[in-house]
Amino acid sequence: MAVLTPAEGSHNIDEEWKEGEPFHWERVHPEFTWYETGKVNMTYECVDRHVEQGRGEKKALWYFSEHEEQSWTYLDLQKEVNRWANVLKNHGVGKGDFVFVFLPKHPHCHVAMLAAVKIGAVVGPLFEAFMEEAVRDRIKDCDGEYLITSSEFLDRVPKKELPSLGTIFVTDDHVEGYVSITSEAKKEKEEAMTEWVDLNDGLNIHYTSGSTGKPKGIIHAHRVMIQQYQTGRWVLDLKEDDIYWCTAHPGWVTGTVYGVFAPLLNGVTTVIHGGRFSAEAWYDVIEKAGVSVWYSAPTAYRMLKSAGEDVRRRYDLTSLRHLLSVGEPLNPEVIYWAQEAFGLRVHDTWWMTETGAQLIANLPTRNIKPGSMGRPIPGVEAAVLDEEGQERPRGEVGHLAIRADWPAIMKEVWKNEEKYASYFPHGEEWYIAGDLAIMDEDGYVFFQGRSDDMINASGERIGPFEVESKLLEHEAVAEAGVVGKPDEVRGEIVKAFITLTPTYVANEELLEELRLFVKRRLAAHAAPKEIEVMEELPKTQISGKILRRKLKERDRVGG
Ligand code: WTA
Repeated sequence: MAVLTPAEGSHNIDEEWKEGEPFHWERVHPEFTWYETGKVNMTYECVDRHVEQGRGEKKALWYFSEHEEQSWTYLDLQKEVNRWANVLKNHGVGKGDFVFVFLPKHPHCHVAMLAAVKIGAVVGPLFEAFMEEAVRDRIKDCDGEYLITSSEFLDRVPKKELPSLGTIFVTDDHVEGYVSITSEAKKEKEEAMTEWVDLNDGLNIHYTSGSTGKPKGIIHAHRVMIQQYQTGRWVLDLKEDDIYWCTAHPGWVTGTVYGVFAPLLNGVTTVIHGGRFSAEAWYDVIEKAGVSVWYSAPTAYRMLKSAGEDVRRRYDLTSLRHLLSVGEPLNPEVIYWAQEAFGLRVHDTWWMTETGAQLIANLPTRNIKPGSMGRPIPGVEAAVLDEEGQERPRGEVGHLAIRADWPAIMKEVWKNEEKYASYFPHGEEWYIAGDLAIMDEDGYVFFQGRSDDMINASGERIGPFEVESKLLEHEAVAEAGVVGKPDEVRGEIVKAFITLTPTYVANEELLEELRLFVKRRLAAHAAPKEIEVMEELPKTQISGKILRRKLKERDRVGG
């Protein structure tokens, strides 16, 4: 098997840890102010601490969009977070309240999240492309009382269906009927009280999909900072002068953990790009900002690859020094392409919403085996288990499991103890990820697929149940089975198999209508790219449950 060896150069992990040496997360505790004061708050560690330690003039956020560029120092960020925190407080937001944030990729999204956290609220970032029903289901599930959004997004907030929602803040100056957080903030003081909490108090909530039921609210606690800081240091290899860019929106866990918290905990400069993907726009941001560490997803790398050499050659990308990937399987060819294109390896990382931080990764100074996600990071133990929870021999497929004692593990699944327990079918010792994997003799882990029907399109996790339910709400659809179909660029695409109700006939127009129906209500990424109409769907004999597995096989064979 091919092994890619690391280039020369010094990396944090090299100086701080030797292969095989034991590592305990307690070793990281003294990095935080709470180690001495006993007072914990994520925002304090991300923002205020840097200002207090004399790094206020350093650039914290650097925003690029088609029309503008903004830069914010740590001091600017601190002042604005404080003003927003004061506004939230004036409107009654307090410790443990849910504050949803529905904003585009923009410094305001960072400010809103950090301000809510500063006063002890639990922040719920929502993906910017969510449509009305996705927004409704999430806020409703935890009776969210507060929402920070912008006027452009208001038509996707079904206010009437959300009786729990008390105050809606907007980030525009004047919108009839809403509280303008930006204009109220202008009148507020630059100082604000930090709500000191316990390490195990709630920090954020992310809704995520499995194969059954609606998305579940995964709640994390402030203690995640231990691992988010440390993986930022050892896996992302963040150093003082890095210009760091994570391309994910905070509505996905990667965008929150590695787009907001981890880089700020490490005190680097974070790039934010507002707007859509295009190879030109992205290369332009890398060149303009001089991005050195870049965290993206296989789909993005594949899209850059297919945009071609000519586009790439127009930009100076020599500032890049460390590339990372997450969210879906990273094909070896992408790694080989990146070596040609940037002279750098792509370091795959593996984790999940539930895990709160990276667990398996290709560390910057270790060999990479293309096709493998890497090895468990220091302080993490992984295993591949059989159905009974016994370890499988090396080289054989089984369920990927992690010894359940890493600091960033979820605190709870909101109002769903049963779901939480389902991650621990063999007792408290092992967390079962739901992924199938092989571990080789050297401890490298190779992803083999999901053990359930969850779909992964462009690194976004989509539950088939949610899409099926939406399709069934359309009167033309009698039955629906939704699966992931393999795709060259996106990894998988959402494919729906349906049967029609009697008065409907299949034609392109109807199928387009169904696509739009899901797209407008749920989100563009959840809308089936392909819809196939069938006479009947394969079902289990006894319970009559639709067999997604059969649909998937059919798709593989039939194309
Ligand atoms: C998949 C994203 C292959 C996996 C941080 C996991 C991956 C799910 C990788 C979690 C990887 C994540 N290679 N598959 N490097 N990383 N996955 O919650 O199936 O959006 O269970 O978290 O994505 O998706 P989630």
